[in-house]
Amino acid sequence: MAVKEQWRSGLGFVLAAAGSAVGLGNLWGFAYRASQGGGMVFLMLYLLIVVVVCLPLLVAEMALGRSTGRSPLVAPAVAGGRLWQPMGWLFVLVSFGILGFYVILMGWTGQTLLHALIHGLPQDKAIAQDFFDQIRGGQPAFLGQFLSLILTSLVVACGVQKGIERLSRWGLPLLFILLIGLAIWAAGLQGAHEGYRTFLLRWDANELLNPTTISNAFKQAFFSIGAGIGAILAYASYLDRRAHLPRESVLIVGMDTAVGLLAGMVTFPLVMSFGLADAVSKSTIGTLFITLPTGLSSLGMTGRLVAVLFFALAYIAAITSSVSLLEVPVASLMDRLGWTRVRAVCVSAVLTLLIGLPAVTGLPKLPGLSDAVSSLDVLGWMDSLFGGVLLILGGLFLTILLGWVAPSRLRNDLNGCNTPPALQRLLLVMLRWVSLPVVTIGVIISVIEFL
Ligand code: PFF
Repeated sequence: MAVKEQWRSGLGFVLAAAGSAVGLGNLWGFAYRASQGGGMVFLMLYLLIVVVVCLPLLVAEMALGRSTGRSPLVAPAVAGGRLWQPMGWLFVLVSFGILGFYVILMGWTGQTLLHALIHGLPQDKAIAQDFFDQIRGGQPAFLGQFLSLILTSLVVACGVQKGIERLSRWGLPLLFILLIGLAIWAAGLQGAHEGYRTFLLRWDANELLNPTTISNAFKQAFFSIGAGIGAILAYASYLDRRAHLPRESVLIVGMDTAVGLLAGMVTFPLVMSFGLADAVSKSTIGTLFITLPTGLSSLGMTGRLVAVLFFALAYIAAITSSVSLLEVPVASLMDRLGWTRVRAVCVSAVLTLLIGLPAVTGLPKLPGLSDAVSSLDVLGWMDSLFGGVLLILGGLFLTILLGWVAPSRLRNDLNGCNTPPALQRLLLVMLRWVSLPVVTIGVIISVIEFL
């Protein structure tokens, strides 16, 4: 049997895991969900869920990966017995589902970037809408999806150290530099404070009971951290025994949250200073692809440069995430069937392409449906199902498995990396008595919202 791959260093692992967390979810998703209302309440709920649920969950998921040394498909059954096998399948299914639409969003990002670079920005909203209508479905969307999948596959095929770790080592620092630069630039815009106030700082207590705001906070937290799907599990299975999991988790979650907030500090001032707040509040997943370029075009060459930098950093963020999603089925196929990495990558990429196809072509009018379904609707549906309901469900299973069924696995693993006993106890108590009930509520609310 081949020797198991390993990260070159602990830092490589942290950067790769943070790269998985930081993605389009931070740049588009955060802005899009925050702008659907909620303001400060959304932000607070989001931070609360991240700290009390996602953080312990992330430690648990890493401990499961590292202690078993197995792939996301096999690890749950190794830890909990055969009854837990379906959880492994859920991980693989959800990864395919998310990657299926994620590479399409990457395609839109890439096309918008190239257009800004080569042709410049659209002069008004109608032109921007036209351009977006052209790229969001059909042949151009397929091309974007295909190329993004090829790039992702190439990185994953190069392996853990030479592919994923190398990409994250330069991608993540670059992304931070670009984003901080843009946030500083955006703070000088006329509508900057108005932008922060409207979207992030507005307090409305009624929002605390608004199911959309609550479910948005859950979806955003789970999707952004990427807990509950097996990606971090796969990465942790390549990790050595010494890495201090609670500390690594805090670093990863901290970087992810910082990027979400920084992205908001870029997008909201832009949206406000160009008077596009209305368009964004009624937003669909694609709105930012229309509003941002339109707004920036009024700033001439500076706007064009900002657009190119922003879409470039979005693409870098996206690819460090898409590789982690692809790693879930790839590691699983290698582990379960003994396939080579390259073979597992090829088969997984073809399956991903097929799964995403309806989000490119839309669905024709089928019996039982009153109308044909547009590609954008399919994409939104995939986002809600895979990136919402099922992802949170995966998180629920993880809390039960490591909190109740196999807590000794978590303890032993944390002991091995010298975690103080008090911190171990705190994590277990959080997992059992806080994460579990809160994630259960999250699953229920997101199912209701989905239906
Ligand atoms: N966290 C990524 C983002 O915010 O775009 C998306 C993602 C990556 C979700 C990896 C789930 C995952 F396992």
